[in-house]
Amino acid sequence: MVRALVLGATGHIGAHVTRALLAEGHQVRAAYRSDRFLPALDGLPLERVRVDLDTLDGLREALKGCAWVFHAAGYYPGFGERCEQAIARGVGSTRRVMEEIRRAEPSRVVFTSSASTIRRVPGRPATESDAEPSPLAGWRPLYAAVKIAMEREALRAHEEGLPVVIVNPSVCLGEYDAHPFSGRLILAFAKYRVPVYLEHTFNAIYTGDVGVGHVRAAERGRLGERYLLACRDMTLKAFAALVASEAGIPPPRWRVPHGLAITAAWMTELIAWATRTEPLLPRQAVQAGRTGQRLDASKAIAELALPQTPIEEAIRRALGWFEGHGYLRKRTKRTLICAEVPGRATIER
Ligand SMILES: NC(=O)c1ccc[n+]([C@@H]2O[C@H](COP(=O)([O-])OP(=O)(O)OC[C@H]3O[C@@H](n4cnc5c(N)ncnc54)[C@H](OP(=O)(O)O)[C@@H]3O)[C@@H](O)[C@H]2O)c1
Repeated sequence: MVRALVLGATGHIGAHVTRALLAEGHQVRAAYRSDRFLPALDGLPLERVRVDLDTLDGLREALKGCAWVFHAAGYYPGFGERCEQAIARGVGSTRRVMEEIRRAEPSRVVFTSSASTIRRVPGRPATESDAEPSPLAGWRPLYAAVKIAMEREALRAHEEGLPVVIVNPSVCLGEYDAHPFSGRLILAFAKYRVPVYLEHTFNAIYTGDVGVGHVRAAERGRLGERYLLACRDMTLKAFAALVASEAGIPPPRWRVPHGLAITAAWMTELIAWATRTEPLLPRQAVQAGRTGQRLDASKAIAELALPQTPIEEAIRRALGWFEGHGYLRKRTKRTLICAEVPGRATIER
């Protein structure tokens, strides 16, 4: 049994890492930032500590006595941030947090990076050895550029002696997605009934498997290595059809050509700018998705025994959680909607 600190325990990935640790019989110290998201930890037998990674308030105390540290509270760049500034912020934050962790001398640090640090390879699924060399070499979405720079900083900390293992999740789908990021994709089709889809390919994984992958990375991951936590490559059309089938609504019907998608994205950015909100469809997402990403998780499957829960199950669990937490109408409505779809009414009832 190990005592582990989870940074970002109230987040989508952190909540699953926390549960995977508890399921293995480990002691968890769950670091949270705002009270608002604390219900993510309700009913769990663990210690709660408030930590702010911007000011480092509470971090030194939280680290005391923890052999494993999971850093799943990485900085997300906001819409409209300038690339160089966002990179400097992400790198600076990673450096300060890793330096503080080093003082506590843990035996393992698992750093949650992202599959967006892996470059798109035409003709075959990409692996860990296809990592992007530099955040600023060629055009890439702001999010990817920042994640590449942060991952390099975590690897630098490893080179300086910190026992770091990197994990690179693909698009995570599942419960406890209180700050929906990847969950927005599900909500777009299930809640807003977006009737169109783009010609995108991406990889998705059940977040429960990502939680297990983190714990296995601490147990048996090789130091200084990256592990792609990925599962199924799929087109956005196939994904939307799965969401629609599970939600009991018709699937989106129309494919949007790239030029039109860029125009629509530009309009959502204009609305976001006027209303000071995040755009529903940033242009960067349209551009990044166009090249598509297929991933090969063989390394994590072989070395970490990464589970591969079917994506249908991940979507079902995410929808159930969104319904139970007020993000989506309850299933009774869904059953009513199902009744309009031939062949599904009897199944749902
Ligand atoms: N979700 C995905 O599909 C996905 C895929 C690949 C990689 N990732 C990466 O995995 C990491 C976690 O993602 P996620 O989806 O779990 O994010 P999330 O749901 O937004 O959760 C982020 C967690 O980190 C905490 N946090 C953020 N900034 C903090 C700060 N300055 N000080 C203290 N705590 C802070 C948040 O606290 P509050 O609850 O107070 O906000 C929350 O608990 C990110 O680095 C992300 O880039 C995510």
